[in-house]
Amino acid sequence: MSKWVRAHTNIALIKYWGKENEALIIPKNNSLSLTLDAFYTDTKVTFKADLAADELILDGEKQDQTALKKVSAVLDLIREKAGMTEFATVESVNYVPTAAGLASSASGLAALAGAANEAAGLNLSSEALSRLARRGSGSASRSIYGGFVEWEKGTDDQTSVARPVDDANWDIGMLFIIVKDAKKDVSSRDGMRRTVETSPFYDGWLATLDRDLAEMKAAISEQDIDKVGTIAERNALKMHATTLGANPPFTYWSADSMVAMDAVRTLRKEGHSVYFTMDAGPNVKVICKQSEMKTIKQALCAYFGEEQIISAAPGPGIQVMEN
Ligand code: DP6
Repeated sequence: MSKWVRAHTNIALIKYWGKENEALIIPKNNSLSLTLDAFYTDTKVTFKADLAADELILDGEKQDQTALKKVSAVLDLIREKAGMTEFATVESVNYVPTAAGLASSASGLAALAGAANEAAGLNLSSEALSRLARRGSGSASRSIYGGFVEWEKGTDDQTSVARPVDDANWDIGMLFIIVKDAKKDVSSRDGMRRTVETSPFYDGWLATLDRDLAEMKAAISEQDIDKVGTIAERNALKMHATTLGANPPFTYWSADSMVAMDAVRTLRKEGHSVYFTMDAGPNVKVICKQSEMKTIKQALCAYFGEEQIISAAPGPGIQVMEN
């Protein structure tokens, strides 16, 4: 039966950056993320006998072929499992506070996997949903679960899945700084491909990941925000360094990203537990204690408008909505 399914976005503290297998979206390395409550996607899938192709309606607007590609990749797998041939209408609503422009493929593809499972009546396990979401977008595999989640790279389609690590029910949260000088970006898919193929720094990135991951897991089990933040920040900087070595080189940083990173360093010198991470875009995510979030947000308002800073707490895994 068609039902709305909600999935929250996640931000990686140990980044996924590069694929071992492009077609199956099997990554080069394990990654670890925190699912957050502030950004999420609601999706409903309806299979219809009279459709000539899948269609995606996002926030009320019909999307083009590019957006549909990842969606149909997931729907094809569902059709195969269910022995169905019908195409589907996918209705999706992104919940993003203010005009942040934070479209999230992680929450979107995770919600889609859940909604397609409901519509096809497959009754898939969370593990199967994670695998399915992964085939739409790698980071979506992690949004099936709440709290801290590790995506184990695995060796094939079956073994490459995310698993919950910790419920994050302790004093940790994230502030999103939405910078204004966003430029035309390189998608994460293209960016990681170019980096793997051309950057001499890519091997260096891979070489230290096991250590970062092991230390991160220990820091999470100790609920030590300073260790978590320190490792996340150095991991993100290493990932971003690989893009500068790519050919042609590129960066996701803008002038405002640098202002934000510097602000975080300044706050840290003043004694706060505050660290940053960044993904395939110029926005900066600030890891801090939930109990200090108001103070940190206030301090960041010296650099950015209040409407540019969004608070997030750890969020839940996917949910089937009653209506
Ligand atoms: C920098 O999951 O968007 O956010 O698998 O090609 O769809 P595809 O890529 P995607 O990449 C996310 C990259 C990242 C780091 C991370 O989320 O781990």
